[in-house]
Amino acid sequence: MRLILLGPPGAGKGTQAANIVDKYNIPHISTGDIFRKNIKEGTDLGKKAKEYIDGGQLVPDSLTIALVEDRLKQDDAQDGFLLDGFPRNLDQAEALDQILENMACKLTSVINIAVDPSILVERAVGRRICKNCGATYHVVFNPSKVEGVCDKCSGELYQRSDDNEETVSNRINVYSNETAPLIDYYTEQGVIINVDGQKDIDLVFEDIASALGR
Ligand code: AP5
Ligand code: MG
Ligand code: ZN
Repeated sequence: MRLILLGPPGAGKGTQAANIVDKYNIPHISTGDIFRKNIKEGTDLGKKAKEYIDGGQLVPDSLTIALVEDRLKQDDAQDGFLLDGFPRNLDQAEALDQILENMACKLTSVINIAVDPSILVERAVGRRICKNCGATYHVVFNPSKVEGVCDKCSGELYQRSDDNEETVSNRINVYSNETAPLIDYYTEQGVIINVDGQKDIDLVFEDIASALGR
């Protein structure tokens, strides 16, 4: 399966991605996670990406598209993948079409997780992530059993540097202006699956799995 997860910041892309890659046994390719790993390791890419991410702006296409193209060429992505957070504008979507054409393959589905904008800030600001295994929690909606400690691996939970109110608001605006038009783009391609991202986490996943039909 060749899948894309589309949705505003805090929609639940990363949360659902964990379930999807587990069930369908495909690699999870999150451009946000790749940038954050590079920032942590202090690479050139990380240094270039940091100011955009902390401002809630898109990292330039010149950096992002090449990164995804390289990742999709790796062995583990040849039989399928889940892209999370890419593409994020029309130029990236057109570039991806070209990359897939060169690989002689097609998208299976684009899963669009719809959430009312009014709850996105609360979702993002309350998010906590495990430093060790990357599991995602929410202080209210999906708390860990012990505050600040991961249920799965006992790792320490942290808050992303871009999960403050001001940056989240910028990210939501960028989403509305640049990313939301992709809903029409993929609807026209006939590959969109719309899911209600305001249900409980497990129910959202049930809807996705039943729409994917396997
Ligand atoms: P990225 O890391 O992709 O962030 P994002 O798109 O803003 O999305 P988030 O990760 O914030 O939200 P999510 O949908 O994954 O939600 P989650 O599942 O964690 O990108 C970060 C930055 O990197 C961008 O701003 C940009 O600068 C750069 N970047 C990345 N890709 C790029 C690209 N292609 N081009 C250019 N720049 C790029 O859930 C959120 C919270 O809600 C969690 O706490 C979770 O527990 C909770 N939750 C989830 N589902 C539910 C539910 N159903 N009910 C209640 N709570 C829920
Ligand atoms: Mg995410
Ligand atoms: Zn953990």
